[in-house]
Amino acid sequence: MFATAALSLAVASASQAQLPDYSQIGPANSVPGGQINKTLQESVGTGHGDEVTPGSAVYLIKRDPARSIRRGRQLFQRKFTLRQGLGPRVSPDSSGDIFMNRQFGAGIMDSCAGCHGRPRGSAGAGGDVVTRPDSRDAPHLFGLGLQEMLADEMTTELRATRAAALAEARQQGRSATRELRTKGIRFGRIVARPNGSVDTLQVDGVNADLRVRPFFANGGTVTMREFAIGAFKAEMGLEANDAILCAVTDPNNPQTRTSPAGFVFDPSKDLYERPPVCDVDEDGDNDGVRNEIDMALVDHMEFYLLNYFKPGTASADSRTRSGLALMNVALCTTCHVQNLTIQKDRRVADVETVHDPVRGIFNRLFATASTRFVVQPPDSQPFPQILPQGQSFTVANFFSDLKRHDLGPTFHEREYDGSMVTEFLTEPLWGVGTTAPYGHDGRSINLEEVILRHGGEAQTSRNLFAALPSDYRRRVVEYLQTLVLFPPDDTASTLNPGVPDSATPQDPTQHGSINLGALFQIPSEGAE
Ligand code: HEC
Ligand code: HEC
Repeated sequence: MFATAALSLAVASASQAQLPDYSQIGPANSVPGGQINKTLQESVGTGHGDEVTPGSAVYLIKRDPARSIRRGRQLFQRKFTLRQGLGPRVSPDSSGDIFMNRQFGAGIMDSCAGCHGRPRGSAGAGGDVVTRPDSRDAPHLFGLGLQEMLADEMTTELRATRAAALAEARQQGRSATRELRTKGIRFGRIVARPNGSVDTLQVDGVNADLRVRPFFANGGTVTMREFAIGAFKAEMGLEANDAILCAVTDPNNPQTRTSPAGFVFDPSKDLYERPPVCDVDEDGDNDGVRNEIDMALVDHMEFYLLNYFKPGTASADSRTRSGLALMNVALCTTCHVQNLTIQKDRRVADVETVHDPVRGIFNRLFATASTRFVVQPPDSQPFPQILPQGQSFTVANFFSDLKRHDLGPTFHEREYDGSMVTEFLTEPLWGVGTTAPYGHDGRSINLEEVILRHGGEAQTSRNLFAALPSDYRRRVVEYLQTLVLFPPDDTASTLNPGVPDSATPQDPTQHGSINLGALFQIPSEGAE
């Protein structure tokens, strides 16, 4: 039997960004591709589970990953209801003092896609929310897993340097100074002392704990799993109960855990955020609903975000090529580093999306999917497993160093308590052609404006850009406009090329969506 034969349905069969499930709208109102064909309870399946429990999250991730990715995607697009526990967000009636503990939470939304919904049907950019007085813009989530893996590998390497410096200091009986450098990026230096302490005064762009935090504009969160749990709570009032993060943050006995998506949470090295509830029977927000977001849903969401498509590249020409060269000349690429390589990729698939006026029948983009997994044969396991191959992978056109920089007063941000945030992560520029307005606060109306707004550590670079002839500045902007997001449902791909030269290339049943399931057609026994 083929594990994924039933998966001829596309991973992205959705035709809107936000979707109800069929049980909410009733079969009479159903539109092909316009709803989710699973209730929330059906998405939970048999829970977190394990490799041998059919229908559980771990079982799907290890044996039929496309289905887990699809569930994560539908969870992202799902419109939650009051009966499912939507709200209250932070205070019981959404009232309270926004200056105190941010009692309003982030927004009023019933779906992740309500804020991360552009372009249509993608985990893209969108809403601007008042979590800070100057507000924060919702970034796109394309390629998010790559961002998490890069930051985690960088952290490991920086900490290995620290360990080596400490060993040297202890051995030699005198201080040892080391440059902190990972993936070609410098993070200042440390001085290790023979007594085991470390002077971190000259560490640059990362906290003294050397943990590169890739999420939040200010670099505040380590993992997608924690972020998703936090977003469910703060933006939708949905409380996820996650045994992994609860074990990792147990105040009495914190324990190391690895998520099904492969992130190792080690509480001896890092502090993580504790979920809002750590007991399935606890109704943390007193709305009468318990276990609002089952742990299995957190598993699927994390796995979806890990494997989510990276941004694409639109039509290039000699002008855009010179635009990229000019970014080097203007020193933009000292912070916006174009390519970074991951040593060990935990994804199971990659989707490469490029300009293709012939095969890109919907939007002149065409996506090529490739697998990144190995099938562990049944002789070493009771059943075949689909595991990430773990090869290296070059993240091309990423354009970030994942460091924090001070870009001067025009980027500084007020906090409700009157303090200021002065340093922000170098925003990766992939996808930037699609995500106006710009800046963490969305206050820059277009690309040229956000570039000219750079100051502080980027003052020299900004001045070099400003001094370019206007035609050259336009080339830089034209290059940045080739770094695009795309609606996965409307982008033809190797997995579903659509119907070229047909009157109905957009027929929902033959839509040019990314049918990830076709990637995973491998023999398996009894996978549901
Ligand atoms: C009310 C609007 C809103 C909703 C709903 C929302 N988000 Fe977000 N999201 C944001 C904003 C704004 C940011 C930027 C946060 C910041 O930097 O302060 C963000 C950032 C993120 C990030 C970090 C990305 C990065 O590069 O820093 C992730 C991951 C994320 N959201 C996932 C989710 C998930 C999963 C859901 C649904 C459970 C969700 N979001 C729902 C507004 C929203
Ligand atoms: C010193 C490091 C540094 C240099 C040099 C630098 N940038 Fe940036 N850039 C950043 C940081 C940090 C941000 C995020 C600012 C924010 O929104 O908080 C950013 C943001 C941006 C954005 C906005 C992205 C978005 O989605 O909002 C663009 C576009 C950009 N930079 C382009 C450039 C160009 C072009 C140059 C060269 C002329 C350049 N940058 C030079 C660090 C740098």
